[in-house]
Amino acid sequence: MTARGTFLTFEGIDGSGKSTQARLLAEHLRHHGREVVLTREPGGSDGAEEIRSLVLQGDPDRWSAETEILLFTAARRDHLERTIEPALAEGKVVICDRFADSTRMYQGLSRGDLRGMVDQLHNLMIGREPDLTLLIDMDPETGLSRAKGRQGAEERFEDFGLDLQQRMRGGFLGLAEEFSDRFRVINGNRDMDSVARDVTDIVMTSLP
Ligand code: ADP
Ligand code: TYD
Repeated sequence: MTARGTFLTFEGIDGSGKSTQARLLAEHLRHHGREVVLTREPGGSDGAEEIRSLVLQGDPDRWSAETEILLFTAARRDHLERTIEPALAEGKVVICDRFADSTRMYQGLSRGDLRGMVDQLHNLMIGREPDLTLLIDMDPETGLSRAKGRQGAEERFEDFGLDLQQRMRGGFLGLAEEFSDRFRVINGNRDMDSVARDVTDIVMTSLP
């Protein structure tokens, strides 16, 4: 399908401020007359939201990394078919809180090197990258304490601890270099408004 809209994603470690910035950006773009679909992964469609509770709740060792690759990719395929592609075909701006780069990191790096497997399944089943990815870079300790402060049931990945967050941070910065054409790195260790100003500046200059 040839998409006419724009596909924007936020990435970064847990608690880096992605959801906050995605919401502020959606408000800003709507204020400027754009039609925006604000969505998230895992989730963003009925079926994918059901998979979300399977992968985010329970013990850290509930699933192997390989099984998680299948579950996150199944959720993404449903989300893409039912939410993302239809919105892009209608010319909307889709803002997604996490996408395939999170699978490249969390499933690809957390328990051994499975990046090749993630990429193979992505090419087979998803085959789409965002037009622009905003990486909110953040000190892992601050991120983890912010994320833990939310006290929800979806803590499976946060329960892997600080070591995982540190590796994810380094991994995301590496990914930003690998896909430097679509990644922009934003310093998340600042107040919300300063981060939001950088986000809107970058997005407004890159939107068609
Ligand atoms: P993420 O989606 O990356 O996990 P959230 O946007 O949910 O992050 O933010 C995690 C927590 O930190 C929330 O309680 C949020 O209100 C707070 N927060 C977000 N951005 C900032 C910021 N720049 N400074 C301080 N607190 C923030
Ligand atoms: P999210 O709700 O964005 O958590 P947070 O707000 O704490 O950043 O995502 C939940 C968790 O799911 C997060 O710890 C990362 C993990 N995740 C993966 O492991 N693989 C994936 O493909 C995605 C999209 C998320």
